[in-house]
Amino acid sequence: MAALSGSLAQISGLTIQDSMLIFLLPLFFLQSPTVAAPIGICYGRVADNLPRPSDVINLLTSNGISNVRVFNPVPLTLKSFSGTGINLIIGVPNEILPSLAAGSPTFSLEWLQSNIFYHIPTNQIRYLAVGNEVLSKDPYYSPFVVPAMINLYQALQTLNLANSVKLSSPQAASVLSASYPPSSGTFDPYIVSNIVPLLRFLNDTNSPFMVNVYPYLSYTSSSEYISLDYALFRSDKAVLQDGALAYGNLFDASIDAFIYAIEKEGFVGVPLVVTETGWPTSGGAEASVENALAYNENVVRRAQAGVGTPKRPGQGVAVFLFDLFDEDGKSGAEYERHFGIFGLDGSKIYDIRFN
Ligand SMILES: *[C@@H]1O[C@H](CO)[C@@H](O)[C@H](O)[C@H]1NC(C)=O
Repeated sequence: MAALSGSLAQISGLTIQDSMLIFLLPLFFLQSPTVAAPIGICYGRVADNLPRPSDVINLLTSNGISNVRVFNPVPLTLKSFSGTGINLIIGVPNEILPSLAAGSPTFSLEWLQSNIFYHIPTNQIRYLAVGNEVLSKDPYYSPFVVPAMINLYQALQTLNLANSVKLSSPQAASVLSASYPPSSGTFDPYIVSNIVPLLRFLNDTNSPFMVNVYPYLSYTSSSEYISLDYALFRSDKAVLQDGALAYGNLFDASIDAFIYAIEKEGFVGVPLVVTETGWPTSGGAEASVENALAYNENVVRRAQAGVGTPKRPGQGVAVFLFDLFDEDGKSGAEYERHFGIFGLDGSKIYDIRFN
């Protein structure tokens, strides 16, 4: 207490009366300390016109981007990052999960060595994203996710890397059967039998739950209920009151729905990492350069400020923006091909700052 009073007095540069401290201290404690969260970008490569890897590295470093998610362990891509100081999330493709699950930890170790560690120093790897959106989007692979993660974990332990290279498995928002209001967040009963072992693994290994969240999709599919301002962080007051918690933007509400769902399965305190989020610049309703800038800029600013969400204030959530470039080889709706933040010549499509 004495030390705290001293530092408080120093901060203000004034001598504070004890009676004043009685009023000041509670305020001091009410403000949660904030932890800035890392910001990264996804490097999707479903395109035939992307800049050369060396140009991509220049673009990333000149923009101060030091965290990147790559979806596949393509040797040339990994090699291009080697020695750059850029930290990576590297995807382990869905298609390899059955072999990793059925094989021994030794098979996983050999797979890691020849497909990943041979091409990139291990100290640049933050996470391996084991499968992508498997449980709700590619359910054939669901039974293989956690067994593959367990084998990979044992392989990492053998190499003394289990504490520095974390394993997780990004999921789409469609794993939730309810998310409005956030406190109703619940996993789809059809996938609960696969989610619970995943949560147990993450909790046991101190690893985050990875989510791909697109308020853009929630907004466009329910624009009669959701305002654009709420989706773009432009609301200056709470839009949704959920019990004691007030929500001013859809991003926070989407994150907290996951946290509630995880807690309902009995796991408290598992952190989240947003492995994809973004807003398209064209090809769909409210897809524009202005809106993409408004959305992504706010996501970045809030992660940097470490504001967290109403359910976990002060705990900034790490985010990976989607996407570095437009991907012309993507199938589906037109907007799917227009999430790029940078043009193919390396110029910014809109003026977002990463540092
Ligand atoms: C999660 O991990 C913590 C810390 O290791 C442990 O105390 C807790 O029992 C675990 N929760 C569940 C539901 O397994």
